[in-house]
Amino acid sequence: MTQAFTHRPVMAAEVADLLATVAPGLFVDATLGGAGHALAVLAANAGLRLVGIDRDPDALAAAEVHLAPVADRVVALHHARFDLLPSLVTEPVSAVLLDLGVSSPQFDRPDRGFSYRAEGPLDMRMDRTQRRTAADIVNRLGEDALTRLLVTGGEGRFARRIARTLVARRPIETTSQLVDAVKDAIPAPARRSGGHPAKRVFQALRIAVNDELDVLGPTVDGAIAALAPGGRIVVLAYHSGEDRIVKDRLVRASTGGCVCPPGLPCVCGAVPLVRLLNRGARKPSPAEVAENRRAESARLRAAERLPGPEDRDDDRSERRGP
Ligand SMILES: C[S@@+](CC[C@H](N)C(=O)[O-])C[C@H]1O[C@@H](n2cnc3c(N)ncnc32)[C@H](O)[C@@H]1O
Repeated sequence: MTQAFTHRPVMAAEVADLLATVAPGLFVDATLGGAGHALAVLAANAGLRLVGIDRDPDALAAAEVHLAPVADRVVALHHARFDLLPSLVTEPVSAVLLDLGVSSPQFDRPDRGFSYRAEGPLDMRMDRTQRRTAADIVNRLGEDALTRLLVTGGEGRFARRIARTLVARRPIETTSQLVDAVKDAIPAPARRSGGHPAKRVFQALRIAVNDELDVLGPTVDGAIAALAPGGRIVVLAYHSGEDRIVKDRLVRASTGGCVCPPGLPCVCGAVPLVRLLNRGARKPSPAEVAENRRAESARLRAAERLPGPEDRDDDRSERRGP
């Protein structure tokens, strides 16, 4: 199983560069996957020790094998959701990475049920110890709730038609049954344009099964709170709903929630927690996209934790020790 786990880390050089200069301490890779990013970051910064988190036990098993050469720098690997990050570290951390979404092995294995291109059970759980599958959602929600779920997950125009067809076709137990139902729900001209007709439906279901959007905002806030002054957070998002949440949380942390009119001095007492490391989101290079199509939609945002009032007079080396 671990041999099959091959995932090309996206924008790995950019991520490693951003984390190469942070002070010695803990690096939390909260979406460890096969540890491709983790290995790149550990190679770029000899002062970092790794805490890995993933909700997929298969990923953790693969990561453990891949991390064997640097096992002395691995503090712990946790089977957990990333919103638990603050409770999994016992000291302020130097770096946090969130590389959102699914890994290639999750997507490529037909038995995981993530892919509209392969026949498999309608599963889509990143963590197969969790109970609710995509089939449970498709076969149990009412038409209105399914419509809302599809809209939230990125399916725009035809959400209502697709939801109605899904309800009429129940039970839907496999990926191909879902693909067929979506194709039949969409008017023929629309089916022929804009990529695979079921792509957004699969994305929306995956997001719902794994509660991807609900925990993201609190996770970014919690990760920022866990950073030591000078520590950095890097987030890679792969669709606009995800990226919007990341952007909002990072921008809010960078203004401290300031409500003063733009351009005027702040008098509302807001305290910025971070400074943004890029204007807007960075995208992968054309060369990377040419080699790895899955990198295409990536959007990278990064921020650095500012010293709080309590840190300014402190001897920070006490908090940042290796
Ligand atoms: C894109 S992959 C990460 C790949 C990794 N950066 C690498 O280089 O191999 C995303 C990983 O995050 C995990 N994941 C997604 N959402 C999660 C969550 N809420 N909590 C914990 N892990 C999550 C998935 O199981 C998957 O293994």
